[in-house]
Amino acid sequence: MSKNLSELSARQGLKNNLFENLAKTDVNKKNIAKEFLIGSASVTGTMSFYDFLKDENKNKKVYVCNGSACLCAGTQGKLTTQLTKYYDEDEIGHMTCLGRCHENSAFHINGNNYSALSNKQIDDVINNNPLNLGNDHYQSDSIGIKVLTNTTLTAQLIIQAFQKITSQDKLQTLNEIKNSLLRGRGGAGFPIGFKLESAMNTESEQKYIICNADEGDPGAYSDRYLLEQQPYSVLFGIMVSAYIVGAQYGVLYIRAEYPESITIIDESIKSLNPLMENIDFDFQFKIISAQGAYICGEETALINSIEGQRPEVRTRPPFPTQQGLFNKPTVVNNVETLASIYPIVTKGGNFYAAMGTDKSKGTKLVSLDSFFNKPGIYEVTMGTPLINVFEKLGGGFKSAIKAVHIGGPLGGIVPVEKFKELSIDFESFAQQGFLLGHASVVCIPESFRMIDYLQHLFTFAAYESCGKCFPCRLGTKRGEELFTNTIKLGKKIDRELLDDLLDTLEQGSLCAHGGGIPLPIKNALEYFADELKEFIV
Ligand SMILES: Cc1cc2nc3c(=O)[nH]c(=O)nc-3n(C[C@H](O)[C@H](O)[C@H](O)COP(=O)(O)O)c2cc1C
Ligand code: SF4
Repeated sequence: MSKNLSELSARQGLKNNLFENLAKTDVNKKNIAKEFLIGSASVTGTMSFYDFLKDENKNKKVYVCNGSACLCAGTQGKLTTQLTKYYDEDEIGHMTCLGRCHENSAFHINGNNYSALSNKQIDDVINNNPLNLGNDHYQSDSIGIKVLTNTTLTAQLIIQAFQKITSQDKLQTLNEIKNSLLRGRGGAGFPIGFKLESAMNTESEQKYIICNADEGDPGAYSDRYLLEQQPYSVLFGIMVSAYIVGAQYGVLYIRAEYPESITIIDESIKSLNPLMENIDFDFQFKIISAQGAYICGEETALINSIEGQRPEVRTRPPFPTQQGLFNKPTVVNNVETLASIYPIVTKGGNFYAAMGTDKSKGTKLVSLDSFFNKPGIYEVTMGTPLINVFEKLGGGFKSAIKAVHIGGPLGGIVPVEKFKELSIDFESFAQQGFLLGHASVVCIPESFRMIDYLQHLFTFAAYESCGKCFPCRLGTKRGEELFTNTIKLGKKIDRELLDDLLDTLEQGSLCAHGGGIPLPIKNALEYFADELKEFIV
């Protein structure tokens, strides 16, 4: 990370944002470098990082989802074949993932997402048939008290609730949030109260709240649900956080793979803005549309991204709450964490803390993929047995599966025999050697070879590595090679070498990307040893 580049980018800040300038289709790299007083190498370095900005993807006309859920469902080969009726092979790109894990066959064209449920549908989309072909459908239900999925808030309702907040001491609101013991839902489970307090106590004229809406874990679409179905809960959480911290901006960094989310949040902000004029609160929302890079979900890479720098992970300390966006105090929180603030501040921190287990409070959204009879987004009280989520809410499986991958690519691979031992909370997963993460569930069918799934994970990890630290930059690539060579060339993987590689990644990586990828591999080595022994000696 360059402190100097942060300051140069800060000169124009969010108003004439460097990243947004780089994302324009008619970008003139030389002019931008001149305007922002940065080297053209910095401009190229940034642009070449992103799937949607890099030169080699300029001619892509349609993007096929290559996320884990679509892969396991086996829908994308047929989809690609159908698309080649209309496009040359080099015009077909990939996106990971479009958040349509509940129905698969997902693709993106002209800024919209679709699920090709039939060949005719693809033809209709491409021939501009004026049907609502982009609409998708999934279930939503709950076990326990609903706090994120019960009502849909309106602009008026959240302004009323916010006026009540501003009429009381901000420490009172902070205490309610601290008392709720709410932990971040983006993966790491860090208490939000500490971050808000730290940023509040850091002296600065400028501060930022960032809503991390980069939900990059294939299999996860719960943030998408909140952004599209409960947009005002998310916006309220940002406003309350900003009020506590003293931030003037609430930035929503939303992945471009979720075009509907961007539109709905934009419309919601437009409805809210006139009402905000009537309250004494110096604050603005800003949407930043991401450009296709998984690592931008990591909070410091995300900050670099907004600054228009190459989105590499930053070393910590300093932590973002002290030195974040444009080197100013910044609180980054996940969409679901922020949406949980409304029930906390309206019903009280104790109400929220009364739900869940000792250390995991409140409720959690779970995303179930298309292998379930009722795929969808489900809200459950923390501590709910996993098997109840799968059977009572998901309605069981459509066909035989051997494992589920929970918590994204860096989450654990849970074999069927472990389902009964787990409940939806951070501790249960950690104690059993898995990771709750964002609670996305991707089913791995009986017929899907584990070796192919592990290769897919390493390929993903290598492609998405930011390259900042060498254990991950080189290690994920070596892992990909080991698995590809055994699949394609029959070259056996040396177990000692693999263990060494996994230890290096785990211990030497700067962030949880390289540090996290060994977990699912180790789970598979433990629970699918018999199946894998043909490849690993
Ligand atoms: C490789 C990687 C990807 C991540 N992707 C996301 C993401 O898509 N969304 C998210 O909220 N957090 C993601 N995180 C976690 C963030 O770094 C950060 O912990 C989170 O946004 C903090 O918010 P929370 O405390 O509300 O969870 C990712 C972390 C890593 C290491
Ligand atoms: S672990 Fe990987 S993604 Fe994280 S900083 Fe290192 S190279 Fe970047």
